[in-house]
Amino acid sequence: MNTFLVSRELLAWYDRHARGLPWRETHDPYRVWVSEVMLQQTRVDTVIPYYQKWLENFSDLHSLAAADERQAMQLWEGLGYYSRARNMLKTARILIEQRAGQFPDSIAELKKLPGIGDYIAGALASIAFGRDEVALDGNGLRVFARLAEFDQPINEAAGKAAIRELMQSMLPQGRAGDFNQAVMDLGATICVSHNPQCDQCPLTKHCHAFQNNTQDRFPLRIKKKPI
Ligand code: ADE
Repeated sequence: MNTFLVSRELLAWYDRHARGLPWRETHDPYRVWVSEVMLQQTRVDTVIPYYQKWLENFSDLHSLAAADERQAMQLWEGLGYYSRARNMLKTARILIEQRAGQFPDSIAELKKLPGIGDYIAGALASIAFGRDEVALDGNGLRVFARLAEFDQPINEAAGKAAIRELMQSMLPQGRAGDFNQAVMDLGATICVSHNPQCDQCPLTKHCHAFQNNTQDRFPLRIKKKPI
């Protein structure tokens, strides 16, 4: 696979077809963070009204750090995984008290904050801070597993790490945030799990699964034994 061309053509596609989403109108780390925490386990359509309402109530880190926990939980109602909201409050308070209200911009420092793992750290570093970092979610795993007819299961650490490495090798310098979001858009709208819309995909000429008509076989997953 020519990783340089994949990256260039994906970005060109994103420049024309990126979804116009409210959190894409800003690079404000607070707003990017709110969106990514909500999006980590919830679909885009569901997130949009929650994102907007959250920002109407808590427009920045200061107002979130001072929030009443019950009010924050009420605003979260319906999104599920409530620990996300509790961790956001904790993180807001830590940043205000210990970091003068600023997010760190490195992956290592971001990951020390409650609720921030590889994915959100990568999204913040690349989208808000313009750093050349990978943000890999389930969509990205599927897209690259198909592109490369990837022979390792994506629900194991080794498979994830290998796809992360492949993505890292493709990151266009200075545009990693767009690259990461292009992969998310491609996975959410075209390279979907069932019935991918390959006729609209900008990457078919690089995609091994498309060429061999094996889209349904990838990504590979290992069945975990019940405990
Ligand atoms: N899913 C997770 N993060 C996203 C983003 N920034 N844009 C679109 N979908 C996403």
